[in-house]
Amino acid sequence: MSPERPTSGDRVLIAPSLLSADFVRLSEEIADVANAGADWLHLDIMDGHFVPNLTFGPPVVKGIAGCTELFLDAHLMVSNPDELVPAFLDAGVHAISVHQEACTHLHRTLNQIRDGGAMAGVVLNPATPVETLTDIISECDYVLIMSVNPGFGGQKFIAASVEKVRRLRALCQSTPGAENVLIQIDGGIDVRTAPAVVAAGARILVAGSAVFGQPDRRQAIEILQKASLEA
Ligand code: DX5
Ligand code: ZN
Repeated sequence: MSPERPTSGDRVLIAPSLLSADFVRLSEEIADVANAGADWLHLDIMDGHFVPNLTFGPPVVKGIAGCTELFLDAHLMVSNPDELVPAFLDAGVHAISVHQEACTHLHRTLNQIRDGGAMAGVVLNPATPVETLTDIISECDYVLIMSVNPGFGGQKFIAASVEKVRRLRALCQSTPGAENVLIQIDGGIDVRTAPAVVAAGARILVAGSAVFGQPDRRQAIEILQKASLEA
């Protein structure tokens, strides 16, 4: 059974990024963050082409889907999302985000994801303006603002991302049908950066180093939740 779909509300969701987990002990690592109160599990899919790194693909994701009840969020950092979306839907994810920069026919790709029963998200690289979403925002379930250049965990947060989240929230609020689009942020999110991005409108915080990189994951998630409340 798939977990309940989150809706936009005031509660901030914490999505640990598996990229910072111990890959040799994947199922234990996933159970650990599930028990620690994670809301989503963020899966970074890298193809060594769109980004200069490689992670894992549909067979591993299928294994993950079979070992957890967590809501699975696949972030596709790949050059050919249209070709790969069906395999990730089959693998059992609940949400898929694709990069604006990688999609020639974004409207079609988002519908492909939704028709497959998953939430559809669009990701913007740091250099891609929010305004490129003006004519597609009402077709999105969520938008992911990259606050680092994608490819690696543990990078420094790009401060201009806060203003970008604010502009995205304004776009959602001023576009009919886009009022409930969730804003996700990914890259360098920790106790210092979380309050500002939440104040700007982010409602899903992806965190790799700040959760999987910490020995006590429950404490790490609580710290992030607390920091979000300071917003
Ligand atoms: C980067 C990935 C992120 C990454 C975040 O390309 O999309 O999800 O794991 O890691 P931290 O939180 O360490 O910046
Ligand atoms: Zn990611």
